[in-house]
Amino acid sequence: MTEARAIAHPNIALVKYWGKQDTALNLPATGSLSMTLGVFPTTTTVVVDDSLEADVFVLNGREQSGVPAERTARFLDLVRGLAGTGMRARVESHNTVPSAAGLASSAAGFAALAGAAASAYGLQLSARELSRLARRGSGSAARSIFGGFALWHAGDDEQSYAEPLPAPAELAMVVAIVDSGEKQISSREAMRRTAATSPFYPAWITSTALTLEEARRACVEGDVAQLGRLTENNALRMHAVIQAAAPSIRYLSPTSIALFDRVAALRDAGLEAYATADAGPNVVALCRAADAEAVAGELGALAETVVALPGPGLVVGGRSVE
Ligand code: DP6
Repeated sequence: MTEARAIAHPNIALVKYWGKQDTALNLPATGSLSMTLGVFPTTTTVVVDDSLEADVFVLNGREQSGVPAERTARFLDLVRGLAGTGMRARVESHNTVPSAAGLASSAAGFAALAGAAASAYGLQLSARELSRLARRGSGSAARSIFGGFALWHAGDDEQSYAEPLPAPAELAMVVAIVDSGEKQISSREAMRRTAATSPFYPAWITSTALTLEEARRACVEGDVAQLGRLTENNALRMHAVIQAAAPSIRYLSPTSIALFDRVAALRDAGLEAYATADAGPNVVALCRAADAEAVAGELGALAETVVALPGPGLVVGGRSVE
């Protein structure tokens, strides 16, 4: 039996990944840019055990079946293919995201699984190779291999990995946890439906490719206001292209909209913050680290808030892979 443990953190995209060029390889239609959060880690242990007849996946103490178990087993098949073995494994994963938060990010989950599984199966992969591997589990996981700011490239299987970007300044994210009370449609299905039916999809792809280049430049130049404007605009464009799918999908709740409005009002009042939201009702405000508590205080009237500084990249067996 061989065993390895890895820890990864979720990331929030400033320029979003929403659409695939290849669903089998999980290649994105455009590149994307994110910040890895210093909160809500996922810890995953993989034990390769030749006495097992099938893979076992235990999440927060509960053995999983159905889609989560199958996605994990398919991912382990990839790792086994690279390692040249058929041995099954037991995967035990713990995440620390508040359960109603909808941030139970597959990004941290597959980044941690990639690190732990590669190590347990005896593979020696670079951070770039781990990013390509994590991408196969969930696209956004490619970015959680790295701490701080990361850019995930579009391209073919060889070219599509994330790499670190310089932090534009000392920034933070304030996560406003909005419980919609509704069961959400998965981002995977919503992404597929958007690409297949939203008439705005081609415009979303061409505009996001341009936004990514502008946002990358804003990071390098330390232009926080420009990066923030691009972030908020890109999120609203993503939600627009999603709403235009047929049947329509709407992730933002009235509270989410109120949070976007509040962030804009704070900005008008001189407290610099910019809002974004993933495939759910939570809103995340990007701001300067020094302003994070003040922003959290202001948004606290509308939702529970958690302040996140930029977090670390993937750690495997106690060592950073970067
Ligand atoms: C809205 O990475 O969960 O968070 O590749 O199908 O697993 P799959 O999708 P996933 O989608 C993330 C979508 C997003 C935007 C982003 O993180 O860039």
